[in-house]
Amino acid sequence: MKKSGILVWDLRTRAFHWLLALSFVGAFATADSERLRDVHVFLGYTMLGLVAFRLVWGLIGPRYARFSSFAFGPRAVAAYLRSLLTRSPQHHLGHNPAGSWAIYALLGLTLLAGATGYATYNELGGHWTEELHEAAANTLLAVVLVHVAGVLVSSLVHRENLARAMLTGYKSGDPGHAHPSGRG
Ligand code: HEM
Ligand code: HEM
Repeated sequence: MKKSGILVWDLRTRAFHWLLALSFVGAFATADSERLRDVHVFLGYTMLGLVAFRLVWGLIGPRYARFSSFAFGPRAVAAYLRSLLTRSPQHHLGHNPAGSWAIYALLGLTLLAGATGYATYNELGGHWTEELHEAAANTLLAVVLVHVAGVLVSSLVHRENLARAMLTGYKSGDPGHAHPSGRG
């Protein structure tokens, strides 16, 4: 069948993504300042709220937003990564197996950073919550860098601008695979 631009990422998923990315940059930028602590805490809670939304959307959202559409085991991840080195790399219209693992790590680490940030702010638990908060936030930063590198590599390999697709929602593919509502 002829390939054309089809809607893959619904509006809520796209809004979730860019709000999460912006809040993350803001939370990091304000993390070390006493004066901007309220801003930091507000952005941290925003990230927690966004992830809470995403967990629900992963269960009831449209096709490509659902966790069931990107639940891949380690073998699928290894096979995908190996295929990137071949002439015919695997192509996934939704999240690819490697990307999906980065996504679960990003969601989980955000929850950990949020919970330990809350505990530090409210002085529950002691010094270790602060240590763990810092470690969770730095690990989150590392995974974000891997995530963005993965998006770049995948965009080059498949000759498709994936960041733009996360903005517009559209990717090129078989129209039969659009998400059922056909709406954004
Ligand atoms: C300039 C920076 C960024 C770019 C260009 C970018 C790009 C993308 C793209 C293209 C996807 C879809 C990947 C695919 O096609 O399978 C994606 C997904 C995702 N990204 Fe990013 N990203 C950025 C920053 C971030 C940051 C800072 C975070 C989190 C702190 C983040 C978290 C996520 C999550 C959770 C998803 C899954 C989306 C969903 O299905 O809900 N991204 N990103
Ligand atoms: C979920 C996303 C969050 C990220 C990525 C993040 C990131 C960071 C980072 C990088 C620091 C600096 C750590 C250091 O160098 O000491 C920090 C400090 C801090 N964060 Fe967060 N944070 C988040 C959420 C929160 C939340 C939700 C709260 C409070 C409810 C919070 C409260 C604090 C406090 C009180 C500090 C200062 C700890 C200290 O005294 O060093 N954070 N955060």
